[in-house]
Amino acid sequence: MIYAKITGWGKCIPPAEITNDELSQIVETNDEWISTRTGIRSRRVSHVTTAQLATVASQHALACAGLTGKDIDLVLLATCSPSTMVANTASLVQKNIGATGAAACDTNAACSGFLYALQNATAQIQAGMIKRAVVVAAERMTWYVNWAKRDSAVLFGDGAGAVILEASAEPCGLLGTKTGCDSGDRDILHIANYGTDMDKYQPSGPSDLLFEGREIFKRAVKGMSEACDDVLSQANLQLNDIDVLVPHQANLRIIQAIQQRLDISDDKVMVNIDKYGNTSAATIAIALCEAVENGLVKPHSNIMSAAFGAGLTWAASYIKWGERVTPIALSDAALPPCTQSGLELIAPAVKACQ
Ligand SMILES: CC(C)(COP(=O)(O)OP(=O)(O)OC[C@H]1O[C@@H](n2cnc3c(N)ncnc32)[C@H](O)[C@@H]1OP(=O)(O)O)[C@@H](O)C(=O)NCCC(=O)NCCS
Repeated sequence: MIYAKITGWGKCIPPAEITNDELSQIVETNDEWISTRTGIRSRRVSHVTTAQLATVASQHALACAGLTGKDIDLVLLATCSPSTMVANTASLVQKNIGATGAAACDTNAACSGFLYALQNATAQIQAGMIKRAVVVAAERMTWYVNWAKRDSAVLFGDGAGAVILEASAEPCGLLGTKTGCDSGDRDILHIANYGTDMDKYQPSGPSDLLFEGREIFKRAVKGMSEACDDVLSQANLQLNDIDVLVPHQANLRIIQAIQQRLDISDDKVMVNIDKYGNTSAATIAIALCEAVENGLVKPHSNIMSAAFGAGLTWAASYIKWGERVTPIALSDAALPPCTQSGLELIAPAVKACQ
């Protein structure tokens, strides 16, 4: 049996930050409302493209695995905010990391995208089609934000995370997985005016993110908990076998509700929504990376992860970590310097939304 072991992990967090207090200067909101309703205290806004975020995260993951781009057979990029649609954004990441022998493909399952991509790349390794893959999730969700709408403006942020998968005889990596999509409710979370459905000569408005927060909240808790139950029984595991929960970071109260339903204690749950907000597909990739960096993930940890997003897609994954929790090497890859503050970066968009 071939497994797809995670041998590298990396992230790219753009430096410019917008705190809740700063946000309350441009939209009618306040730190108290945002932090108590969502758990978010700050978010990052990118001064570079989605492809650049993905590239730096992938370079860190490659160094961590002791590999270079030449070793890679597949670059799978999970994103719903691609730099370009045609050519796909993954092809630029492939070029940037020097993975010229690799296939390159974007995958869009919104916030569930990283777990969908992980499943896809794992299956290709297990089928013997490829040996090594970069699975990277990168988003510029702030590009979609309408800064006049307080319900959505406070929730989103930018960033990227990546893992390296390698064929291995060791039973680790993605050992249980369940993905699905409740398409009947696909309209309650979507981006308007984007794609070939729009009139390209007379667009009827900006590409805004529209959603029914309360409905999504309920469906997210139910969908993610049920998917976790499914994966636990698939992998023949009990709840107390789970060492770490790495959930999608959309709202701290959603995370706590899932945690309660799964009866998992605080010390086992990876939370970083306070720093980054909802970075869509990138939340789990970044959170997994930070869970290893901060020692939450230990050698051979049993990790449960769950996501929920537009579609309405959902996913849960059981990941068995390997022995190594430290990088083989470090990369000095970095974004170009950012000379503007977060508020300065979004100022043109804020003006356009007024
Ligand atoms: C979006 C979300 C945070 C809203 O929280 P909520 O507790 O459901 O809040 P509501 O939408 O019911 O709004 C409650 C009140 O706060 C107000 N409000 C909404 N956004 C606000 C903000 N940023 N600042 C201050 N007040 C705000 C509303 O106008 C409403 O006021 P009213 O009672 O006078 O009408 C929450 O529903 C959520 O996290 N949903 C799931 C996450 C999600 O949708 N993510 C999107 C993609 S994954």
